[in-house]
Amino acid sequence: MADYEDNKQKNSFTLFNNETGKSYDLPVIKGTDGPDVLDIRKLYQETGMFTYDPGFTSTASCDSSITYIDGNEGILRHRGYDIHELASKSEFLEVCYLLLHGDLPSPEDKQKFKDVITNHTMIHEQLVHLYRGFRRDAHPMAIMVGVVGALSAFYHDSTDFSDVNQRMIACHRLIAKMPTIGAMAYKYSIGQPFVYPKNDLSYAENFLYMTFSVPTAEFKISPKIVKAMDRFFILHADHEQNASTSTVRLAGSSGANPFACIASGIASLWGPAHGGANEAVIKMLEEIGDVKNIPEYIKKAKNKNDPFRLMGFGHRVYKNYDPRATVMKESAHEVLEELNKHDDPLLKVALELERIALEDEYFIQKKLFPNVDFYSGFILKALGFPTSMFTVLFAIGRTVGWISQWKEMIEDPINKIGRPRQLYLGKTAREYQQESTREKKSIFNWLWK
Ligand code: ACO
Repeated sequence: MADYEDNKQKNSFTLFNNETGKSYDLPVIKGTDGPDVLDIRKLYQETGMFTYDPGFTSTASCDSSITYIDGNEGILRHRGYDIHELASKSEFLEVCYLLLHGDLPSPEDKQKFKDVITNHTMIHEQLVHLYRGFRRDAHPMAIMVGVVGALSAFYHDSTDFSDVNQRMIACHRLIAKMPTIGAMAYKYSIGQPFVYPKNDLSYAENFLYMTFSVPTAEFKISPKIVKAMDRFFILHADHEQNASTSTVRLAGSSGANPFACIASGIASLWGPAHGGANEAVIKMLEEIGDVKNIPEYIKKAKNKNDPFRLMGFGHRVYKNYDPRATVMKESAHEVLEELNKHDDPLLKVALELERIALEDEYFIQKKLFPNVDFYSGFILKALGFPTSMFTVLFAIGRTVGWISQWKEMIEDPINKIGRPRQLYLGKTAREYQQESTREKKSIFNWLWK
């Protein structure tokens, strides 16, 4: 819970208006780690001015105790624990518990949590008909947005955000059902029967089972592959106030139900500048095709007039190697080794592309390093997922982060509806124009052809 009075600093920040000669003191609030913030909540009331920060590059949209990132040092911590340690020592469900409840679970709590989650892995049978309404070639992310949003039409006993029990049930349902929903989206696209969850399997193994098993054969998978899948989910579990998480918070701030909020997060994640980048990386590497073509693509990435960007490179917050990317790179090598796919020609292109980019002045100067998406696609491709499923896997891992952030926001006593303002640059008041006097707009020329 935010207690600003305790965190308010003795120093403040003074704004001086040259025109009026007036000055305003802005309180400074100190966090437990990371930059302090200027408290501008009374700014408009006192100065009549808004702040302007498109893309929120200097704006803390909320306070949170879940995830901490130091982008310059390449640090990512969940509830104080370093991501490397969580990825190597914990299971995904432990990380889910940690994000939701603040601490790692005791053995008893861990077992209880597992039981609760596995109790919710099935989805309402009627939802099968919803899948059948989609074209077989629908993008699985389109199906995810639709089906997750539709959960609110099926689970009426967990849509009331103001009820603490309903909130918790919604969190459990979402964490539990996302792998089932994702696996069904895949099965539907390839015309295979849906596979029901099996509750004696771990979270990651169950997902792989629902995705890749068929009723006609026994399902076998190596523990190393299950571990890699689990680690993939851990590495995507939460990432502070990114675009999709902020979308979830904004949707939730109006009191929208949790299933609708998570559906909005999935929609936001889909974009290639965010979660869609893992799909875009593989497409880019396929397009590059061969190590000899890399210089041409590096040149394109540096050309201001060319929209091409090196996918899987750069990050709004990390101005250093993304700590998740280091683990993902190791994991990719392990998976390719295990599956005897280490001679994947795309991996050769990726390694060389990374090497060249990291030595290139443009990338050095702009602090563009590989992000989590650069190597994750290799793991997923080697496991047999089509590229269109990559962002779905990201969404499954991120659901716990979204729902933990949503819960934190709802439980914050100062929770207010998110309502940004704007710098208006449009027309000032003008007289209404009669239809006969309006000019034809050239923008619609294509309509007249
Ligand atoms: N390739 C080439 N140039 C780049 C790249 C890139 N991948 N990323 C940034 N730049 C350049 C920009 O052109 C810009 O140059 P300028 O200062 O000369 O105008 C400068 O670096 C800063 O880039 P911005 O776009 O202003 O940075 P921003 O923080 O807004 O964007 C983003 C971050 C969207 C991730 C960007 O780096 C990008 O598009 N990367 C590729 C897509 C990607 O990998 N996304 C996944 C992000 S991680 C995640 O969501 C899980």
